[in-house]
Amino acid sequence: MPHTTAFARNQWYIAAYGTEVGRELLARTVLGEPIAFYRTEDTGEVVALADRCVHRRFPLSHSRLDGDRVVCGYHGFTYDTTGTCVYVPGQKRIPRTARVSSYHVAELDSFVWVWIGDPALADRTTIPRAPHLADSTHWTTVGGMEPIDAGYGLLVDNLMDLSHETYLHGGYIGTPEVADTPMTTEVDEGAGIVRVSRHMDDAECPPFYANSTGIKGRITRWQDIEYHAPCLYLLHSRIAPQGVLPNPDGTDPDAFHVEITYAITPSTPDQVYDFWAVSRDFGHDDEEMSAFLRDFNHEVVMQDVNALNLLQKTLESEPAGYQELSINIDTGGLAARRILSRLAAEGDRSATPDNVAR
Ligand code: FES
Ligand SMILES: [Fe+2]
Repeated sequence: MPHTTAFARNQWYIAAYGTEVGRELLARTVLGEPIAFYRTEDTGEVVALADRCVHRRFPLSHSRLDGDRVVCGYHGFTYDTTGTCVYVPGQKRIPRTARVSSYHVAELDSFVWVWIGDPALADRTTIPRAPHLADSTHWTTVGGMEPIDAGYGLLVDNLMDLSHETYLHGGYIGTPEVADTPMTTEVDEGAGIVRVSRHMDDAECPPFYANSTGIKGRITRWQDIEYHAPCLYLLHSRIAPQGVLPNPDGTDPDAFHVEITYAITPSTPDQVYDFWAVSRDFGHDDEEMSAFLRDFNHEVVMQDVNALNLLQKTLESEPAGYQELSINIDTGGLAARRILSRLAAEGDRSATPDNVAR
């Protein structure tokens, strides 16, 4: 794999947690496009404008809000929520071309999603869901975001194969059984979904789960990955005392469930935003448990961040055309790569001059 992965433009991407966007301008670069986010005063709707003033390209994210308008911090060009310039200094006439792009935004399941590609193709109903993140009755969530200096393809690879838990996250979430247990992979090419499942019948309980669930002794541990290319990754994790299975009717009262959510948002060709969240269906009022899971998972995320920073640097110094060697554990990752390159090619086709003129 080249050390950068082509961008799939006509897709929704998670730009921020809803809680990150407010009356302070927030800067995020998504698919190479710098964007400034803020909320309107009355409705609290999220606005996303290109983060470069049309005058001398000063970053609007370093400017100020005047009501729902952005006043450029350099010479005062003022933009409304659509990106249209409504004021320039020193003259009455506002040039016709004085506008910055605005982006479609959708707020869903505690995330702010942004559409980068052809605006005519933006369809909110295609956004994949992570309902547990917005369901605080049944789920208690901790989370964060780490930028990584690596192409987003490396993070997809990392998350699609959890065998690395045994080695990179040993003593945290990894135990020998993760790497030793074969997994099954299912690919829905049309929907762009890859599912990778690994069910461990009799496994050591890693500290992450021993400390949070209180289970003493060995466990039955299921990991069911559901990757909605390109951006949303869900890991349904089920932990129960060894041998305890769900009831025939599907209820599962004696197990602990943890939904681990990642958003993989390409920032530049060699940078990616790694949003992560851990949602549990137990110990809802336990602040100490929340703090433990937040800190512990942050450490796990940083193990990945450091590994991928190193890997990216290493790959950049390799001669072109280096060979990788893939094995069974890479099945899910390879399927994900295939889907991503198809989505990227589709995005390229829709950006042909024909379509732009339409
Ligand atoms: S750069 Fe924004 S007003 Fe000059
Ligand atoms: Fe990891």
